Amino acid sequence: MGHERAELERWKREAAEAALERVRPGMVVGLGHGSTARYALLGLAELWRAGRLPGIRVVPCSRAVEEEAQAQGLPLTTLEEHPEVDLTIDGADEIDPKLNVIKGGGGALLREKIVAQASRREVIVADFTKLSPALGTRFPVPVEVLPFGWRSQARFLEKLGARVSLRTDPSGKPYLTDQGNYILDCWFGPIPDPWELARKLEGRAGILEHGLFLGLVHEAFVAGPEGLRHLTP
Ligand code: A5P
Repeated sequence: MGHERAELERWKREAAEAALERVRPGMVVGLGHGSTARYALLGLAELWRAGRLPGIRVVPCSRAVEEEAQAQGLPLTTLEEHPEVDLTIDGADEIDPKLNVIKGGGGALLREKIVAQASRREVIVADFTKLSPALGTRFPVPVEVLPFGWRSQARFLEKLGARVSLRTDPSGKPYLTDQGNYILDCWFGPIPDPWELARKLEGRAGILEHGLFLGLVHEAFVAGPEGLRHLTP
Protein backbone atom coordinates (compact mmCIF):
# COMPACT_ATOMS: atom_id res chain seq x y z
CA MET A 1 0.00 0.00 0.00
CA GLY A 2 2.59 2.53 1.19
CA HIS A 3 0.88 5.90 1.26
CA GLU A 4 3.06 8.94 1.64
CA ARG A 5 2.98 10.47 5.08
CA ALA A 6 1.92 13.82 3.63
CA GLU A 7 -1.08 12.17 1.96
CA LEU A 8 -2.12 10.49 5.20
CA GLU A 9 -1.90 13.78 7.04
CA ARG A 10 -4.02 15.45 4.37
CA TRP A 11 -6.71 12.76 4.70
CA LYS A 12 -6.69 12.99 8.49
CA ARG A 13 -7.14 16.75 8.30
CA GLU A 14 -9.88 16.46 5.69
CA ALA A 15 -11.85 14.02 7.89
CA ALA A 16 -11.38 16.16 11.01
CA GLU A 17 -12.46 19.34 9.23
CA ALA A 18 -15.60 17.65 7.91
CA ALA A 19 -16.57 16.70 11.47
CA LEU A 20 -16.14 20.31 12.61
CA GLU A 21 -19.17 21.22 10.51
CA ARG A 22 -21.25 19.45 13.18
CA VAL A 23 -20.18 21.92 15.88
CA ARG A 24 -22.62 24.72 16.71
CA PRO A 25 -22.23 27.80 18.95
CA GLY A 26 -22.76 27.04 22.63
CA MET A 27 -21.99 23.33 22.37
CA VAL A 28 -19.99 21.33 24.88
CA VAL A 29 -17.49 19.49 22.64
CA GLY A 30 -15.46 16.42 23.61
CA LEU A 31 -12.05 16.22 21.95
CA GLY A 32 -10.21 12.93 21.62
CA HIS A 33 -6.53 12.12 21.72
CA GLY A 34 -4.36 11.25 18.72
CA SER A 35 -3.03 12.74 15.53
CA THR A 36 -6.37 12.87 13.65
CA ALA A 37 -8.44 14.34 16.48
CA ARG A 38 -5.64 16.91 16.86
CA TYR A 39 -6.61 18.37 13.50
CA ALA A 40 -10.13 18.81 14.88
CA LEU A 41 -8.68 20.59 17.92
CA LEU A 42 -6.62 22.94 15.75
CA GLY A 43 -9.55 23.64 13.42
CA LEU A 44 -11.90 24.22 16.34
CA ALA A 45 -9.43 26.66 17.88
CA GLU A 46 -9.26 28.57 14.61
CA LEU A 47 -13.07 28.81 14.39
CA TRP A 48 -13.22 29.86 18.03
CA ARG A 49 -10.60 32.57 17.59
CA ALA A 50 -12.42 33.83 14.51
CA GLY A 51 -15.53 34.27 16.66
CA ARG A 52 -17.51 31.74 14.65
CA LEU A 53 -18.36 29.40 17.55
CA PRO A 54 -19.27 31.62 20.50
CA GLY A 55 -20.06 29.87 23.76
CA ILE A 56 -18.43 26.52 23.01
CA ARG A 57 -16.58 24.68 25.77
CA VAL A 58 -14.22 21.75 25.36
CA VAL A 59 -13.94 18.54 27.39
CA PRO A 60 -10.46 17.08 26.70
CA CYS A 61 -10.03 13.28 26.69
CA SER A 62 -6.43 13.30 27.94
CA ARG A 63 -3.96 15.50 29.76
CA ALA A 64 -2.09 16.06 26.50
CA VAL A 65 -5.28 17.24 24.77
CA GLU A 66 -6.02 19.47 27.74
CA GLU A 67 -2.58 21.10 27.47
CA GLU A 68 -2.86 21.61 23.74
CA ALA A 69 -6.40 22.96 23.92
CA GLN A 70 -5.25 25.39 26.60
CA ALA A 71 -2.25 26.44 24.52
CA GLN A 72 -4.60 27.07 21.58
CA GLY A 73 -6.78 29.29 23.77
CA LEU A 74 -9.86 27.04 23.68
CA PRO A 75 -12.28 27.42 26.60
CA LEU A 76 -12.06 24.24 28.69
CA THR A 77 -14.62 22.59 30.88
CA THR A 78 -14.97 19.27 32.73
CA LEU A 79 -17.51 16.49 33.07
CA GLU A 80 -18.03 17.76 36.63
CA GLU A 81 -19.32 21.06 35.21
CA HIS A 82 -20.98 19.47 32.18
CA PRO A 83 -21.80 15.80 32.76
CA GLU A 84 -23.42 15.69 29.33
CA VAL A 85 -21.44 16.45 26.20
CA ASP A 86 -23.21 17.57 23.03
CA LEU A 87 -20.73 16.18 20.54
CA THR A 88 -17.38 14.42 20.68
CA ILE A 89 -14.87 14.22 17.85
CA ASP A 90 -12.33 11.44 18.23
CA GLY A 91 -10.00 9.26 16.21
CA ALA A 92 -9.86 5.47 16.03
CA ASP A 93 -7.35 2.73 15.41
CA GLU A 94 -9.66 0.32 13.58
CA ILE A 95 -13.22 0.76 12.28
CA ASP A 96 -15.55 -2.07 11.30
CA PRO A 97 -18.49 -1.78 8.87
CA LYS A 98 -20.95 -1.21 11.77
CA LEU A 99 -18.76 1.57 13.17
CA ASN A 100 -17.62 -0.46 16.12
CA VAL A 101 -14.08 0.71 16.71
CA ILE A 102 -10.85 -0.10 18.50
CA LYS A 103 -9.32 2.84 20.35
CA GLY A 104 -6.45 3.33 22.73
CA GLY A 105 -3.42 3.34 20.45
CA GLY A 106 -2.60 6.65 22.10
CA GLY A 107 -3.32 5.31 25.57
CA ALA A 108 -6.32 7.51 26.34
CA LEU A 109 -9.04 4.85 26.02
CA LEU A 110 -10.49 5.13 29.53
CA ARG A 111 -11.13 8.88 29.42
CA GLU A 112 -12.17 8.62 25.77
CA LYS A 113 -14.78 6.00 26.62
CA ILE A 114 -16.07 7.98 29.59
CA VAL A 115 -16.48 11.03 27.36
CA ALA A 116 -17.99 8.97 24.50
CA GLN A 117 -20.60 7.47 26.84
CA ALA A 118 -21.40 10.94 28.16
CA SER A 119 -21.86 12.30 24.62
CA ARG A 120 -25.09 12.75 22.71
CA ARG A 121 -23.14 12.27 19.51
CA GLU A 122 -19.82 10.49 18.98
CA VAL A 123 -18.15 11.34 15.68
CA ILE A 124 -15.09 9.40 14.52
CA VAL A 125 -12.54 10.93 12.16
CA ALA A 126 -9.95 8.83 10.36
CA ASP A 127 -8.01 8.16 7.21
CA PHE A 128 -9.17 5.16 5.18
CA THR A 129 -6.36 2.85 6.43
CA LYS A 130 -8.37 2.44 9.67
CA LEU A 131 -11.24 0.66 7.89
CA SER A 132 -11.35 -3.06 8.50
CA PRO A 133 -13.72 -5.97 7.84
CA ALA A 134 -13.44 -7.17 11.47
CA LEU A 135 -12.00 -5.62 14.62
CA GLY A 136 -8.69 -7.15 15.66
CA THR A 137 -7.54 -7.72 12.08
CA ARG A 138 -5.18 -4.77 11.93
CA PHE A 139 -4.72 -3.62 15.48
CA PRO A 140 -4.42 -5.04 19.01
CA VAL A 141 -7.11 -4.34 21.60
CA PRO A 142 -5.52 -2.11 24.25
CA VAL A 143 -6.57 -3.12 27.75
CA GLU A 144 -5.95 -0.76 30.67
CA VAL A 145 -5.09 -2.69 33.83
CA LEU A 146 -4.26 -1.80 37.39
CA PRO A 147 -0.50 -2.34 37.95
CA PHE A 148 -1.42 -4.52 40.96
CA GLY A 149 -1.77 -8.04 39.64
CA TRP A 150 -1.15 -7.11 35.99
CA ARG A 151 0.55 -10.41 35.19
CA SER A 152 -2.59 -12.24 36.27
CA GLN A 153 -4.56 -10.09 33.82
CA ALA A 154 -2.00 -10.89 31.10
CA ARG A 155 -2.49 -14.62 31.77
CA PHE A 156 -6.29 -14.20 31.68
CA LEU A 157 -6.06 -12.38 28.33
CA GLU A 158 -3.80 -15.10 26.90
CA LYS A 159 -6.35 -17.70 27.91
CA LEU A 160 -8.93 -15.70 25.93
CA GLY A 161 -6.69 -16.25 22.88
CA ALA A 162 -4.62 -13.06 22.78
CA ARG A 163 -0.94 -12.53 22.24
CA VAL A 164 -0.27 -9.98 24.96
CA SER A 165 2.42 -7.35 25.29
CA LEU A 166 2.89 -4.84 28.08
CA ARG A 167 3.11 -1.38 26.49
CA THR A 168 6.39 0.36 27.33
CA ASP A 169 7.66 3.91 26.99
CA PRO A 170 10.80 4.77 24.94
CA SER A 171 13.04 4.04 27.96
CA GLY A 172 11.61 0.51 28.21
CA LYS A 173 9.65 1.18 31.42
CA PRO A 174 5.92 0.32 31.50
CA TYR A 175 3.90 3.04 29.78
CA LEU A 176 1.64 4.77 32.31
CA THR A 177 -1.81 6.08 31.41
CA ASP A 178 -3.11 9.42 32.68
CA GLN A 179 -4.51 7.40 35.58
CA GLY A 180 -1.13 5.74 36.35
CA ASN A 181 -2.20 2.33 35.01
CA TYR A 182 -0.59 -0.10 32.55
CA ILE A 183 -1.75 -1.02 29.07
CA LEU A 184 -1.69 -4.58 27.74
CA ASP A 185 -1.88 -4.65 23.94
CA CYS A 186 -3.79 -7.79 22.99
CA TRP A 187 -3.49 -9.26 19.50
CA PHE A 188 -6.54 -11.41 18.96
CA GLY A 189 -6.66 -11.47 15.16
CA PRO A 190 -10.13 -10.95 13.64
CA ILE A 191 -12.60 -11.03 16.55
CA PRO A 192 -15.75 -12.98 15.61
CA ASP A 193 -17.94 -11.49 18.38
CA PRO A 194 -16.51 -8.30 19.91
CA TRP A 195 -19.56 -7.95 22.21
CA GLU A 196 -18.86 -11.32 23.80
CA LEU A 197 -15.18 -10.47 24.24
CA ALA A 198 -16.12 -7.09 25.77
CA ARG A 199 -18.39 -8.84 28.29
CA LYS A 200 -15.58 -11.16 29.34
CA LEU A 201 -13.15 -8.26 29.76
CA GLU A 202 -15.69 -6.23 31.74
CA GLY A 203 -16.23 -9.11 34.16
CA ARG A 204 -12.63 -9.20 35.31
CA ALA A 205 -11.40 -7.26 38.37
CA GLY A 206 -8.17 -5.40 37.63
CA ILE A 207 -9.19 -4.70 34.02
CA LEU A 208 -10.22 -1.07 34.19
CA GLU A 209 -11.24 -0.59 30.55
CA HIS A 210 -10.68 -1.97 27.09
CA GLY A 211 -10.40 -0.36 23.69
CA LEU A 212 -13.49 -1.96 22.13
CA PHE A 213 -15.97 0.88 21.58
CA LEU A 214 -19.12 -0.97 20.58
CA GLY A 215 -22.39 0.67 19.58
CA LEU A 216 -21.06 4.06 20.66
CA VAL A 217 -20.33 5.76 17.34
CA HIS A 218 -23.06 7.74 15.55
CA GLU A 219 -21.14 8.66 12.43
CA ALA A 220 -17.66 8.66 10.93
CA PHE A 221 -15.84 10.83 8.42
CA VAL A 222 -13.18 8.83 6.61
CA ALA A 223 -10.92 10.34 3.96
CA GLY A 224 -8.72 8.57 1.44
CA PRO A 225 -7.68 8.40 -2.21
CA GLU A 226 -11.30 8.17 -3.29
CA GLY A 227 -12.32 11.26 -1.37
CA LEU A 228 -14.24 11.87 1.82
CA ARG A 229 -16.80 9.31 2.96
CA HIS A 230 -19.55 9.85 5.53
CA LEU A 231 -20.40 6.57 7.27
CA THR A 232 -23.24 5.67 9.63
CA PRO A 233 -23.75 2.38 11.47
C1 A5P B 1 -6.05 7.45 21.63
O1 A5P B 1 -6.01 6.77 22.82
C2 A5P B 1 -6.66 6.62 20.57
O2 A5P B 1 -7.89 6.11 20.91
C3 A5P B 1 -6.73 7.39 19.26
O3 A5P B 1 -8.01 7.83 19.00
C4 A5P B 1 -6.28 6.51 18.20
O4 A5P B 1 -5.06 5.94 18.59
C5 A5P B 1 -6.15 7.21 16.87
O5 A5P B 1 -4.98 7.96 16.78
P1 A5P B 1 -4.47 8.54 15.41
O6 A5P B 1 -5.51 9.49 14.93
O7 A5P B 1 -3.17 9.21 15.78
O8 A5P B 1 -4.25 7.38 14.50
